Amino acid sequence: MARSDRYLEYNGLPLPTVSHSEASLKYFETFQVQDDDTFAITYPKSGTTWMQEILPLILNGGDLTPVQTIPNWDRVPWLEETRAALVMDKIPAPRTMVSHMPYHLMPASFFSSKAKVIYVTRNPKDVVVSSFYFHQMASFLDDPGSFDEFVDKFLAGQVLFGKWTDHVKSWRNTDMKERILHITYEEMVQDLQGAVQCISQFLGRELSAETLEHVANHCCFKNMKKNSMSNYSLVPQDIMDSKKSPFLRKGTAGDWKNHFSPVLEAKFTSAIREDMKGTNIELYWDD
Ligand code: A3P
Repeated sequence: MARSDRYLEYNGLPLPTVSHSEASLKYFETFQVQDDDTFAITYPKSGTTWMQEILPLILNGGDLTPVQTIPNWDRVPWLEETRAALVMDKIPAPRTMVSHMPYHLMPASFFSSKAKVIYVTRNPKDVVVSSFYFHQMASFLDDPGSFDEFVDKFLAGQVLFGKWTDHVKSWRNTDMKERILHITYEEMVQDLQGAVQCISQFLGRELSAETLEHVANHCCFKNMKKNSMSNYSLVPQDIMDSKKSPFLRKGTAGDWKNHFSPVLEAKFTSAIREDMKGTNIELYWDD
C-alpha cells in the first residue's frame, strides 16, 4: 500500500486510514461530551489497552463480564476512530472512551463539560520501542525500517499522532484542575493495585481492598495477555501478525535498555530535553 493510502493528515498529525476517516473525525469534532464521561488519553503505546481494561472494571465494581465479553475497541472506544459512530450510542452512562488526540483538538463540547480525563504518560524511550514492534506487526502501518531510523522519525514527529513531546505538553497545560489525573505507565507497572485505587478514587468509586486486588489481578500483564477480548487475537493475522510481535508484547518499564546504543540514547534524551525546555514537566524516568 502506498504511504498516502495508509495515512491521512489531520491538523498536521498522521493518522492511520484503517481506523480513521474524514467522517470519523467529523463525528469526533461534533461529539456531545457529557459531564459524567471519562476519557483515558494517551500518546499511542503508552497504556491505552490497559486503561480499556481497568476503567470498566472500576465502574462495574470488579464485575468481569464486560472485559470478558466485549472487545476492548467496543468496550472503551477510541472516539476519533470509525468504530465510535457504530458503538458509542450503545454504551451506557457513565461512558468511558479513549483518545490519542492532543488537548487543543478535543471536541468543542469537551471544553464546556465536566468530563474527567486520566492522562497516562510513559517513558518515551519505551514508547518508541513498543511502537517499533507495533509497526512490524501491523500491516496497515509503514515498515519502521531499522530501530535507529524509526527513532529519527519518532523525534521528528513523523509517526502516528505526531510528536510525543507536543502531546505531553498539550495535556500538561490545561485548565482542567481537579478533573484531570496524571498517572504514569511506570507507576502502574510498579504498583498496579495502588494505581487502580488512585483511579477509582478519582472517579469517585471507592472499592474494597478485596475488589481492588481482584481488579489488579485481572489487569496484570500475564492475565490480560490471555484475554482474547483485549489481546487483539480477534484481529485477522494479515492485519495484525502476532507471530511477528504480539500486541501485548513485554509490558515492562525499561525495555529501551535492550534497544538503544549509548549514542542513540544521548541523542534521544537531548532532543526530548530540548523540546521540553521552558516547561515545568519533569522527565521523571531519567536517573
Ligand atoms: P510493550 O510493547 O512495551 O509491551 P497501547 O495499548 O497504548 O497501544 O500500549 C501498548 C503497550 O502497553 C504495550 O507495551 C503493551 O504490552 C502494554 N500493556 C498493555 N497492557 C498491559 C499490562 N496489563 N501491563 C503492562 N503493560 C501493558
